[in-house]
Amino acid sequence: MVQPAHNDAAEQGLSAPGAQDRLSLSRLMVSHYRNYGMAQLDVPASPVVLYGHNGAGKTNILEAISYLSPGRGLRGARLADLNRRTAEGPAGTTWSVAATLETALGPVRLGTGLERKADQPEGDAERRVVRIDGETVRGPAALAEYLRLTWLTPQMNGLFMEGASSRRRFLDRLVLGFDPDHGRRVSQYERVMRERTRLLRDGGADDAWLSALEAQMAESSVAIAAARRDVVARLRGALAASVGPFPSAAMTVTGDAEDGLDSQSALDVENWLREQLAQSRLRDGERGRASFGAHRTDLEVVHLVHQMTAADCSTGEQKALLVSIVLAEARLQAMQQGSAPIMLLDEIVAHLDGVRRAALVDELLGLGVQAWLTGTDRPLFEALEGRACFMHVENGKVSPAND
Ligand SMILES: Nc1ncnc2c1ncn2[C@@H]1O[C@H](COP(=O)(O)OP(=O)(O)OP(=O)(O)O)[C@@H](O)[C@H]1O
Ligand SMILES: [Mg+2]
Repeated sequence: MVQPAHNDAAEQGLSAPGAQDRLSLSRLMVSHYRNYGMAQLDVPASPVVLYGHNGAGKTNILEAISYLSPGRGLRGARLADLNRRTAEGPAGTTWSVAATLETALGPVRLGTGLERKADQPEGDAERRVVRIDGETVRGPAALAEYLRLTWLTPQMNGLFMEGASSRRRFLDRLVLGFDPDHGRRVSQYERVMRERTRLLRDGGADDAWLSALEAQMAESSVAIAAARRDVVARLRGALAASVGPFPSAAMTVTGDAEDGLDSQSALDVENWLREQLAQSRLRDGERGRASFGAHRTDLEVVHLVHQMTAADCSTGEQKALLVSIVLAEARLQAMQQGSAPIMLLDEIVAHLDGVRRAALVDELLGLGVQAWLTGTDRPLFEALEGRACFMHVENGKVSPAND
């Protein structure tokens, strides 16, 4: 099942000037990952097009890449579900993803996967391990210091119609691209919040211990809110300027700490939050969740041309708004950090009309983004012929197809 894909960048003439400054993957290897046995992709810094029929394994490749950044991956799947299953039942080996990332400071090897302790039965004692240049690191948060990644998937079509949690995750991913510590901050906050909720639910918790947890929650909430507000403010200019047919937009972040920071000092907001948490212990214990904090934040998006909140826009307009946001993010990162993030665009092209498709391709090429695009048919990507690395995906195998 090994798939050597000799897709030498120079051979294909796809190493555009300045390509060495791009953030790009030059090699991706997946093992026992969903419908893949073993696959290796060697790709240039240019956009990569993965095409093939439904169920071939295109999204699985993008999802595998998404685990090279902190968080729960592109589909939010359970880690054990990524293990390859075959008709004969579970294959018994755990999944891994490894890549060589090209950065302005040279190549970095990133790897992650599920590891099982040898003496444990399947499903037990499995945990995600992360390696950077061969060294095991403490958790996935460190990956954000190397790989900046952004994605758009069909599952995100409902983002503006769903509950706040998906928008908050989207916002936190935007923040991560500018502030690699953000992931660590958010997961630490969530850990402390879970511990407080557990103590309140079980009852009999020590008052001083609860106060200490609440102080940590208040402090983290303010730090998280400040980072979110900062990135939304930075994106404001880039978003207000529309790119061709993609609409200009405005983003606002609302939340317990975020709203307070409009008019009060960080310390005042922190004190206020701590008091609110202390006062809501009884209720929070009964409801099994905290009534205040960074986990309640929401992101509001307005289509500026129509002066319409995103939830009231048409499906196509909502999609265009999401494209506007990720392009603004890419432009801003290119400007402020010297290179755009790697972008995973799952089935985006098929949903755009000809004008928007051409505009997206122009923008991606102009920004020098290594965008990974998927679709069922190669002709959809006509505008990228000769300018992208084309890969054909079939039944868990990927082969270069640049002729
Ligand atoms: N753990 C697993 N083990 C084996 N196969 C899996 C596993 N999880 C998912 N699959 C299979 O992987 C296949 C490819 O899925 P993927 O989502 O990558 O397809 P795709 O090429 O993106 O298709 P589409 O064009 O329909 O979006 C599917 O048939 C799916 O059932
Ligand atoms: Mg797919």
